[in-house]
Amino acid sequence: MDSFSTVIRTASHEEHTEAETSTFMSDMLGGRLGVEAYARYTEQLWFVYEALEAGAERLASDPVAGPFIRPELFRLASLERDLAHLRGPQWRAGVSALPATRAYAERVRECAADWPAGYVAHHYTRYLGDLSGGQIIRDKAEKTWGFARKGDGVRFYVFEEITNPAAFKRSYRELLDGVQADDLEKQRIVAECKRAFALNTAVFRALAEEFPLSA
Ligand code: HEM
Repeated sequence: MDSFSTVIRTASHEEHTEAETSTFMSDMLGGRLGVEAYARYTEQLWFVYEALEAGAERLASDPVAGPFIRPELFRLASLERDLAHLRGPQWRAGVSALPATRAYAERVRECAADWPAGYVAHHYTRYLGDLSGGQIIRDKAEKTWGFARKGDGVRFYVFEEITNPAAFKRSYRELLDGVQADDLEKQRIVAECKRAFALNTAVFRALAEEFPLSA
């Protein structure tokens, strides 16, 4: 039988491809978007990570979600530095969540409050993705908009305290494999992971509408 980390990766493969090849991501990785679109995207991430990390402290003692709460993953402070760089010191006054982002953050908050195993699905979808494909996005952002390598503007993608991402991902997958849940609950986690991808794709769709390429 496949390990749970394999099951969740395989089950979300199609959703991953859809997110990866979304118009917004393709335009961003193709260097076709302005820095304003990148800033707006970063702003949306801020709302998502606020929801992910606001609940983290309380979840740290939860038997299911607790082992996943690792301070070296926290992204909120990095996002805030990036936004200060992208938008200036008054950035807070100008941020707004797209309706799709609000729905995403709301679902994360619901899981954090009522269903720790569902929170794990959201945790996996974001943080393991950031440690993986996020590095491709960082590289592209640095080249397209001229941010300093691993500096302000792309700090979200830089995990200063994770010196060996491959080893970290391995240990993360071991945590997934050891998750305290029966088969039915594991199926529900997988379904929530697919939902998490769909929530991300919806944000990309909204961003693509806001930043259409001049046709
Ligand atoms: C253009 C954008 C993206 C690219 C180029 C990309 C690329 C990649 C690559 C190369 C990996 C494999 C890394 C490895 O096996 O160590 C990966 C894994 C992953 N990505 Fe993405 N990705 C993108 C977008 C996303 C998005 C939007 C999400 C979800 C919000 C996401 C979530 C994940 C997750 C959860 C994994 C870990 C899979 C696993 O090993 O269990 N990715 N990504």
